[in-house]
Amino acid sequence: MVRFESGSNMSKKRLLTGMQSSGVLHIGNYFGMLKPLVEMYEDYESYLMVADYHSLTSLKDPALVRESIINSVKDALAVGIDPKKAVIFKQSDVQEHTELAWILNCQVTVPFLQQAHAYKDKVAKGLEANAGLFTYPMLMAADILLYDAEVVPVGSDQKQHVEYAREAATKFNQNYGETFLMPQEKIREGVGTVPGTDGQKMSKSYKNTVPLFGSREEIQKAVMSIVTDSSGEQPENVFKIHKLFRDESELEKLYEENKGQYKNLKEALIEDIDAVLSPMRERRAGITDKEVKEVLEGGAEKARAEANAKMEVVRQKVGVTI
Ligand code: ADP
Ligand code: TRP
Repeated sequence: MVRFESGSNMSKKRLLTGMQSSGVLHIGNYFGMLKPLVEMYEDYESYLMVADYHSLTSLKDPALVRESIINSVKDALAVGIDPKKAVIFKQSDVQEHTELAWILNCQVTVPFLQQAHAYKDKVAKGLEANAGLFTYPMLMAADILLYDAEVVPVGSDQKQHVEYAREAATKFNQNYGETFLMPQEKIREGVGTVPGTDGQKMSKSYKNTVPLFGSREEIQKAVMSIVTDSSGEQPENVFKIHKLFRDESELEKLYEENKGQYKNLKEALIEDIDAVLSPMRERRAGITDKEVKEVLEGGAEKARAEANAKMEVVRQKVGVTI
């Protein structure tokens, strides 16, 4: 079992974030989400949770659920999260999450949940409006409130969910007395929006990605497909991606020397991307499923102890402990 080493984290604020695996990661996910997390998690007592019960709102294939749990942990380890310095666990291993979600569901109203953007967006996209999807924000609130997490790093699309967690905490505290801390979202600033090979936002839905753990050949193929504007001397889309991998002042020189030589510039970009990604790719390939299970076991042990203690208090307050 891989155990989290507490001690050094005693006086730090708590951070919790959830990972809901959404397929093969790309460099937009890395610069927008993972890298900022890697840079900040050691400043807090960090909890990184695989939101596997949340994923059941959309995934119905058990093999896919298992695979996405394992992949999420491998991704986190490969980009540099150390399981001795953060508690990495999965939601379904700590039953207090669903227990607290129920209690929080009893604090908020149906019209309140109906206003959640994420719910409305998913329904608008034709996703089945199951009751799990509807009450998703209260499970997320439970994830956060159970651990007295004060800092919640999320993408801007999840900001409202953290507001919902605050609202649920406020309602509970009003009804039963001060119990939960108010969590604060920390919106990832990262590098803004990473453009895809076609110049639009890089997104798996647009098929314009550079895969984060792709082979050199896949990187090569993606870079060669970057759309270049033949009217200018500097290929803007190539440059925008290049900036993520190399210092801008060095790039100015390189782009000046290779004016109009798109092929050379793309080849330089391939080298620079590969230099950054290949160590992570190799690290990921070396992580076994067994190792993932050991990390999750260690994380669950620590998370359970915390969640259990908090739920004891909550059960007392709501009156079910007689
Ligand atoms: P996709 O758009 O490929 O479906 P997700 O919505 O699953 O990506 O993204 C998960 C997180 O990764 C987002 O909340 C955001 O923080 C980050 N992210 C995704 N795409 C980009 C991008 N092009 N630039 C910066 N960050 C991104
Ligand atoms: N809903 C989040 C997302 O889709 C994942 C998540 C679940 C989460 N529980 C959380 C994020 C708790 C932060 C805190 O990205």
